[in-house]
Amino acid sequence: MGVLQDLLSPAVEQCSQLPLATQIAVGVGSFLFLVVFLNVVSQVLLKNPNEPPVVFHWFPIIGSTVTYGMDPPRFFQEMQQKYGDIFTFILLGKKTTVYVGTNGNEFILNGKLRDVSAEEIYTVLTTPVFGKDVVYDCPNSKLMEQKKLMKIALTTEAFKSYVPIISDEVNSYIKRSPDFKGNSGIVDIPKNMAEITIFTASHALQGKEVRARFDESLAALYHDLDMGFTPINFMLHWAPLPSNRKRDHAQRTVADIYMSIIKKRRAEGQSDAKDMLYHLMNSSYKNGQQIPDHEVAHMMIALLMAGQHSSSSTSSWIMLRLASRPDILEDLYQEQVRELGPEPLPPLQYEHLAKLPLNQAIIKETLRLHAPIHSIMRAVKSPMPVPGTKYVLPTDHVLLAAPGVSSTDEQYFPEPMKWEPHRWEKDSRIAPSIVRNEVEEEEKIDYGYGLVSKGAHSPYLPFGAGRHRCIGEQFANVQLQTIVAEIVRNFKLRNVDGGNDVIGTDYQSLFSRPLEPANIHWEKRDSP
Ligand code: HEM
Repeated sequence: MGVLQDLLSPAVEQCSQLPLATQIAVGVGSFLFLVVFLNVVSQVLLKNPNEPPVVFHWFPIIGSTVTYGMDPPRFFQEMQQKYGDIFTFILLGKKTTVYVGTNGNEFILNGKLRDVSAEEIYTVLTTPVFGKDVVYDCPNSKLMEQKKLMKIALTTEAFKSYVPIISDEVNSYIKRSPDFKGNSGIVDIPKNMAEITIFTASHALQGKEVRARFDESLAALYHDLDMGFTPINFMLHWAPLPSNRKRDHAQRTVADIYMSIIKKRRAEGQSDAKDMLYHLMNSSYKNGQQIPDHEVAHMMIALLMAGQHSSSSTSSWIMLRLASRPDILEDLYQEQVRELGPEPLPPLQYEHLAKLPLNQAIIKETLRLHAPIHSIMRAVKSPMPVPGTKYVLPTDHVLLAAPGVSSTDEQYFPEPMKWEPHRWEKDSRIAPSIVRNEVEEEEKIDYGYGLVSKGAHSPYLPFGAGRHRCIGEQFANVQLQTIVAEIVRNFKLRNVDGGNDVIGTDYQSLFSRPLEPANIHWEKRDSP
């Protein structure tokens, strides 16, 4: 101590003779240096052999937040190469343990209820947007019941009625949109796909009253709700910011709109609508309690929000990919002529979709490379031993699953970064292992919302796995396949420069989507 004092005291004395502002700057600089120094020393000296390796970082709290946030998939891949399938990084001060690969997907997504919690992570973001008593603002057992009730409404019979509704929405959108006036042009496609997605989903799932209101006030209100879904709101969800005030106002207004529609439908006697609203307002929980109107309203908001980003970003990527591969777009058109023709093609029906395997593969392949949800998080509720390792994950860790890593792994998908929908054909040279039947038959499990495959061995999980698995998969497929089939009937697409490049990904929001502007060239198929 005395030696240190002897060494430092001349420096301290010299410093005290400097102007005050310089003294403060020197003080802050020294403090920061000390913080960084101690942070580095603790990483080198205090490694815990029973916890996964920690990604090296200079600054505490910030940790690897910036490198992760700029390009999460690249971060996962680089860290996997450096540290292996399981590693911990600091995300805004939180120890976040990533476990990639099929074992990691299984460990996190099929984690036991007593070990992992989704609601603890997501409720701050979702409850102000969806509203109270649904999804992550209720016990998990209630969410499982809610998912079951929502899933029951998504029957084959309902899908049959949805296809003509979606087709009509797409065609009338193309007719009235100023962006598609004339025979050809250039369009920044994500905005149009977002509109087509909300019009088709709201009309099919939520009924014509809700759809009609999207031409008026609802679009702006949903936009305000959407603004609540930004990463910054993981920390500032409570803050009296203008965006949060608008979010809260929009939540109350939208919920009131749904509740007034419910009341009107009840007053006018039961409607024969096959939509979700009709189904939920006539459903009861297991204990016999009818779903209260405010919960129906909040579930409707949750459904629309859950589907909107994922489906709209997927459809934008599909259009961008098709513009980069006009040959595939032509294959798609020819598939329709061959299977549903001759021309003029008949109005699209649900039964037609099963006859169009390439049309289905477009969605599969796009989700493989552009899964909208790159990070799935869970809080650790009790210490979790990681099978096959000496690690035990403590309760101050957050778990992060990234199924996108295994869906771009060469082990399962030859030439993994190539967008090639034909790979999903069994005899394709680059068929995935799941198509070549090299993966064991999936075990089925019921978490309370019907049997789902466990997904434990699958490297391809764009819809997640386990108790929080997506219930909108079939609807999304029907919606996306119908939209793609109709666009292909209407347009030929290509990149503006005629090349094969595809724009990069914007990871700034919670969902990955194309960077904008994402311009493509369109030409009407029936243009002279
Ligand atoms: C959950 C993906 C469309 C409703 C999920 C999860 C994923 C996902 C990965 C799991 C999240 C987690 O484990 O934390 C997708 C993709 C879609 C899509 C890629 C479209 C391409 C939809 C649609 C709906 C929907 C259209 C509604 C009709 C839900 C619901 C959950 C969910 C209710 C359950 C959340 C939970 O249990 O915690 N989705 N989804 N999704 N999705 Fe989707």
